[in-house]
Amino acid sequence: QNADEEIVIGFSQCTGNDLWRKTMHDDMLRELSFYDNTRLIIKDAEDDNSRQIQHIQEFINTGVDLLIVSPNEAEPVTPYIEQAYSSGIPVIVIDRKSSSNLYTAYIGADNFEIGKAAAEFALTSFDQDTVKVLEIWGLRGSTPAIERHKGFNAGLANHDVFEIVASVNGEWQYEKALTRFGSAIDTLDIDLVFAHNDQMGKAAHEVLLNKKRRKDIQVYGVDGLPGSGGGLEMVMNGVLDATFLYPTGGNEAIRLAVDILQGRPVTKEHRLITTAIHEGNVRTLKLQSEKILSQQQSIMRQQKLIADQNSLYKSQRIILYLVSGG
Ligand code: FRU
Repeated sequence: QNADEEIVIGFSQCTGNDLWRKTMHDDMLRELSFYDNTRLIIKDAEDDNSRQIQHIQEFINTGVDLLIVSPNEAEPVTPYIEQAYSSGIPVIVIDRKSSSNLYTAYIGADNFEIGKAAAEFALTSFDQDTVKVLEIWGLRGSTPAIERHKGFNAGLANHDVFEIVASVNGEWQYEKALTRFGSAIDTLDIDLVFAHNDQMGKAAHEVLLNKKRRKDIQVYGVDGLPGSGGGLEMVMNGVLDATFLYPTGGNEAIRLAVDILQGRPVTKEHRLITTAIHEGNVRTLKLQSEKILSQQQSIMRQQKLIADQNSLYKSQRIILYLVSGG
């Protein structure tokens, strides 16, 4: 490849409209700004498997240099990820997994561990004889939902005080969780809601608040995003009793993409860190995340300044050239 030639990274994103995905895109674009001649094209499948399949095919046909995919549901999308990979395009799978090992690298936190951590946190938070749990599921065919569920069950396995008495399909979405949890809850006696993400946890909180049952029932989520509307704030404000950090991996994915494109050897599996966030540590974590956010903003400002100065410098050189006549 010619040094001046533009490098194109295609990102087939399963859904784009929530805060977690937006944060992922911001994380990617910030990292991307460190590299010259590299462009990222994001196609948002809006929770639709066939739209995502179409996007992957478009990326294969236009010949991107590298493909990043977060598969909406593993089974239907996997053959097309395999097709891209087999055609010679390096593929990074991010967050949600595919169901084969035909990809260059995977990046994401361990969702089984997250489910298990939620169970372990529950074990320390209740001292009654029975604890009835309702689980609000993410999309059934997406791997984080399956793995969070399995990890949660594994964590409770030897503790028969805990019982999962009901589950609701929230499909990762606030609105769906709001209506479906809202219509399930009236006939149920429960002590804990384990929502597979924070937005569905927030929906459960609002329903319970409305029905004046919030103080009797704990609510856990997953994601723990920093910033306004994120999970850290929700734990601070008592919307959630706990959440479990699920980093987006956006900047790591871009760094990995560049490594792959520059021919450096990379490891196949990249596991991001996770941690329980609760009343006892949320203030510290929030302060730290705010500091990082403000540093990121100042880096962006400095980069813009440098870019502005570079273009000024270029135009001055042109003027100088014209004045001196070459
Ligand atoms: C965002 C999201 C997150 C969740 C992840 C799972 O679209 O629903 O809240 O952790 O996707 O893939």
